[in-house]
Amino acid sequence: MDGNGRWARERLLPRNSGHKEGVKTMVRIAKACHELALPYVSFYAFSTENKFRPASEVKGLISLMGRIGEVSDELIKYDMRLNILGDITYFDERTQALIVESVQKTSSLKGGVVNIALNYGGRDEIIRAAQLYRDSDGSKHVEEFLYTAGQPDPDILIRTGGEKRLSNFMLYQLAYTELFFTDTYWPDFSQEELNSIIAEYYKRDRRFGK
Ligand code: IPE
Ligand code: MG
Repeated sequence: MDGNGRWARERLLPRNSGHKEGVKTMVRIAKACHELALPYVSFYAFSTENKFRPASEVKGLISLMGRIGEVSDELIKYDMRLNILGDITYFDERTQALIVESVQKTSSLKGGVVNIALNYGGRDEIIRAAQLYRDSDGSKHVEEFLYTAGQPDPDILIRTGGEKRLSNFMLYQLAYTELFFTDTYWPDFSQEELNSIIAEYYKRDRRFGK
């Protein structure tokens, strides 16, 4: 979900109002995924590196996480289960409790899964999975220790905001994912654009290296 800062700057607004608008877009796109009957959607909200942004911005981003309860209330309307990717022990206790409560509220829902990556890094995830695997009895595949355990690999990755890189997102899972990059800033990303990316996706020939 890239481009919140530039979206705000173009409107002479503080960066954090871009992030605030970005949360609205995230809920809108989750709803669109529900309407399209897409069973899984993941949003990269806060990376392991984002915490090294200026303190005021990090504070703003963490305070936006305080809205996770409202986000999960929306997801309940769409019968979607909230799942968090990443190490939330980095956040203050109040934020952690809100996140846990928001996840629990949706835990029985079956209409789809919404992953939100918070303090998530692809390298961190792989190292953590390797360590958990090492300490296990070896009966489970190493993939079962990823944050996305039990979920299929993504078919589509969309990065908004014009940059063409993965920025440490799902490095294991994206092995054969179809990549899409758009200049649209995340707050402006729409269901129409999602639809056109999906149409483009169906035109691609996926061979998975075979
Ligand atoms: C992405 O938007 C949102 C987060 C990383 C939380 P940016 O904050 O990176 O926006 P730009 O790239 O400065 O426009
Ligand atoms: Mg950016």
